[in-house]
Amino acid sequence: MTTIAIDGPAAAGKGTLSRLLAGAYGFHHLDTGLTYRAVAKYLLDAALPLDDEDVAVEIARTIELAGLDRAVLSAHEIGEAASRIAVMPELRKALVEAQRVFARRQPGTVLDGRDIGTVVCPDAEVKLYITASPAIRAGRRYEEIIATGGETDFGTVLGDILKRDERDMGRADSPLKPAEDAHLIDTSEMDIEAAFDVARDIIDAVLEQDVLPLRAPD
Ligand code: C5P
Repeated sequence: MTTIAIDGPAAAGKGTLSRLLAGAYGFHHLDTGLTYRAVAKYLLDAALPLDDEDVAVEIARTIELAGLDRAVLSAHEIGEAASRIAVMPELRKALVEAQRVFARRQPGTVLDGRDIGTVVCPDAEVKLYITASPAIRAGRRYEEIIATGGETDFGTVLGDILKRDERDMGRADSPLKPAEDAHLIDTSEMDIEAAFDVARDIIDAVLEQDVLPLRAPD
């Protein structure tokens, strides 16, 4: 069983990359952001407060990982609410538990999020930290919103990205940061194909090393 842990800030391209990598290796993929988003959506829909940890934990325990749908959960307000509730330690504990169960699936898994290499799967065989400059990430997110018929301006999107970074990197519990043994990939100057090639080379090198038979000393 192999686990590939992929972390990075919002709109760095880790979601698309994770899906492609999971497809290439025949592994199961979990976008852990969706688990936080699903709890956030439930709270928003039910007009429940975003800071009641007991309620959030109760909802987290009922979440079915198989049924999480990015199309339903992609709304900007849901992402914002997700990053607010993600500061609550007991909620994180409940979701991390479910994520770890997923990570044990055969023949292997790709999990992406903010704390996969540091907290959820610290023993993952491969850890990648995907990043890009805030302006580049904001530009990509802006294009995405416009292409899908939304209305916004670049300044607003950049402001949101910076706010989200601050919240995700500044929280006390499981802040976003690269694991010490993570491979850093800066996608500022790369398209998705180039990022995929770089990631694949890193993963292949690690996996090859793992399966090489131990040689007896000469
Ligand atoms: O990646 P995505 O934008 O879907 O994540 C939404 C929010 O969920 C993030 O901004 C972050 O606060 C939270 N999150 C987290 N840990 C993860 C994945 C997401 O705290 N592993």
